[in-house]
Amino acid sequence: MAYKKKLPLDPVNTTIESLAHDGRGVSHVNDKVVFIDEALPGENVDFVYTDMRRDYAEGKVVQLHSRSPQRVDPKCAHFGSCGGCSFQHVADEEQIKIKQELLKEQFKRIGKVEIPEIWEALTGPHWGYRRKARMGVKYVAKKGRVLVGFRERRNPFLAEIDSCKVMYPLIGENLLAFGEMIAQLTIKDKIPQIEVAIGDNEVVLAFRVLEPPTEQDKQILRDFGRQHQISICLQPKGPDTIAPLDGEPEVIPSYTLAEQGVKFNFKPAMFTQVNYEINQKMVTRALDALELTAEDRVLDLFCGLGNFTLPLATKAGYVVGVEGDLPLVNHARENARLNNLDNVEFHAADLTKDVRDQAWSKHKFTKVLLDPSRAGASEVLHNFKHWQPERIVYVSCNPSTLARDAGILVNELGYKLVKAGVMDMFPQTGHVESIALFVKK
Ligand SMILES: C[S@@+](CC[C@H](N)C(=O)[O-])C[C@H]1O[C@@H](n2cnc3c(N)ncnc32)[C@H](O)[C@@H]1O
Repeated sequence: MAYKKKLPLDPVNTTIESLAHDGRGVSHVNDKVVFIDEALPGENVDFVYTDMRRDYAEGKVVQLHSRSPQRVDPKCAHFGSCGGCSFQHVADEEQIKIKQELLKEQFKRIGKVEIPEIWEALTGPHWGYRRKARMGVKYVAKKGRVLVGFRERRNPFLAEIDSCKVMYPLIGENLLAFGEMIAQLTIKDKIPQIEVAIGDNEVVLAFRVLEPPTEQDKQILRDFGRQHQISICLQPKGPDTIAPLDGEPEVIPSYTLAEQGVKFNFKPAMFTQVNYEINQKMVTRALDALELTAEDRVLDLFCGLGNFTLPLATKAGYVVGVEGDLPLVNHARENARLNNLDNVEFHAADLTKDVRDQAWSKHKFTKVLLDPSRAGASEVLHNFKHWQPERIVYVSCNPSTLARDAGILVNELGYKLVKAGVMDMFPQTGHVESIALFVKK
């Protein structure tokens, strides 16, 4: 709960002790932990308080008295105000070390499991990597301008940014142009968001429209799309209403995992991995770690549109993919057909619920891959007693739930953690993507 009393105004001097998982520096002042934006361990700083709670406080640096060797100058002028990135002030190779340390610490503290071997980090492009995003749009009447981009740090308002260096450049370098184009539309205040979907050869933007655009609006959008070689779609209601502008062909974005020779079609609002280079490396690493043979019957949980399932099917005897979102399941089936893979089946199921009565769940599986959302997979793990996989690869976008679930696998279900490590899926941001390999004891 926030204190009602005013925050102290005078700067306070302190030395940063460690780094929190979101990239903020941690220090103790008057026995209270303070999380300080953009401050690095070892640095002596003057900071001012930005928030004061009962158990902790927050602050931002006003003067840096010493500079950590890990520190670099942020590349983006909006770093600090835009909430998209929180690690631009840390050298690229240090970011990954910090994330590896965080993973180790969370396994130990939350899962009560030591990582016996740190899996060498998978690395790729540090900038311009992001091919999938939902960008906010806001017409600000007072400024007579339309903002396009991401939210401010710890604030619900859209940041005033004109470019984004982690986004794929055709989008990231054109945010100002998007805003100027939208400002010409009669429905400029009726567009809350844009889905960005960038395939290997296609760029599709789906504009959520709360009111139908006029013919003139459509022409402006069409001309803009042609000028920038972007396929523009409208989304009048839910994600399944996304459709091209009248008279324009439907462009289906796709990506290919060249190492496995598998191609995926997807729709703009569907979940896909945002960083294609790391995705390719991650899929290859997962497949190698599972040591697949034609005898294997593999279960891919939280399978999405089949990003791991189809590559698994190129190596294993049979693969079952399970996913909670029915449109994704249908799309996964279509992608299997597209790739002529017939040793794979997909099922829709809520994996937080009891799935024991579902036909697919009654079989045994030699290997399991799982890639849940941030909440992790604790509920489904207890089925492993029945499925009896000998090898498990767990991919995660949240180290704390991965650590918790590693604790269940190791301390309750008889698995040994072989190795775990991070993958640089989201450079410059506080997001941590990781992977762990478990084998039956
Ligand atoms: C991180 S994504 C991974 C998708 C896929 N493995 C990939 O690489 O593209 C997590 C997936 O879990 C699905 N999911 C989330 N909660 C679920 C639940 N309770 N039951 C089943 N699937 C769920 C989401 O729809 C999403 O597709």
